[in-house]
Amino acid sequence: MKVLVLTSGGDAPGMNKFLTEVYKKCKDLYFAYAGFTGLVNGEIYPFKDVFDARLTNCAGSMIKSSRCPEFKQARVFNKALKNAKDFDVVIILGGNGSEKGAKRLYENGVNTIFVPGTIDNDVDDCSYSIGFSTAVKEGVYTVENTMPSIVAFNNACLFEVMGRESAEICKTVAKQVDADYIVADKPDYEELKNVVLKRYIKNESACIIVRENICPIDEMAKKLNELLGMDIVKTQIVGRTQRGGAPTAEELSMAKKYAQEVCHCINSKVFGVRILADKEYKIVTKEFK
Ligand code: F6P
Repeated sequence: MKVLVLTSGGDAPGMNKFLTEVYKKCKDLYFAYAGFTGLVNGEIYPFKDVFDARLTNCAGSMIKSSRCPEFKQARVFNKALKNAKDFDVVIILGGNGSEKGAKRLYENGVNTIFVPGTIDNDVDDCSYSIGFSTAVKEGVYTVENTMPSIVAFNNACLFEVMGRESAEICKTVAKQVDADYIVADKPDYEELKNVVLKRYIKNESACIIVRENICPIDEMAKKLNELLGMDIVKTQIVGRTQRGGAPTAEELSMAKKYAQEVCHCINSKVFGVRILADKEYKIVTKEFK
């Protein structure tokens, strides 16, 4: 079978492991360079030309990724559709937006298989998307490597983690570091001030985890310091280390399981599906919603 794979949206640690595992079983594998953009432009090449075993356990995507908002336009979509129809199967690894693209291609006659690959862990009905464990690990690592310096000055710190509109990373990091407070939504400055003060009067330091896209954390810290009447609230953005960090063992194991299920679907000719992790992290196959 002639199989095409692409990675789309924010790259996620574990994507390379997934690709390697699929390639082990599908030798007639091709890739679209940088996601839907490559599919639209016909930048499609044999996977063997880009495969590098040394990258298997590294973050990133050896076939590159991109965001392709133009894909929604009929003219652009039709170009992608024409190229996708050259393949028996198209595997799409990405987040919510990529899933919509996969579904649309399927509805137009392409045998697509969608796999959740996003650090945000916000794919519907899915408890684990490839990249999440590493993103959390990097968040925890940053907190643990920053707090000793914060503690040394009796300061407090706001840590901003990625996750787009999803609070999954924020909440999981906060739980793992036993944070004092989570800002997953609109900040309550009075409450935040009290969290910081409660620690400060005992010569201790508050650790606060903030989801990105709420309000710039420097602004948040400025406002808090004004309320406190002292300059003790510092900031640290975890940022792209969450995407670039070395995949955890759990990541590699989940990526492999996803790949095995995809290969199983290909062999059984099951298409038009989303491969998901259930509550127990068991990999299941469901039809597009
Ligand atoms: O979707 C993954 C993600 O890392 C989000 O957590 C974040 O909001 C976004 O991508 C950042 O995107 P970009 O790297 O394109 O700025």
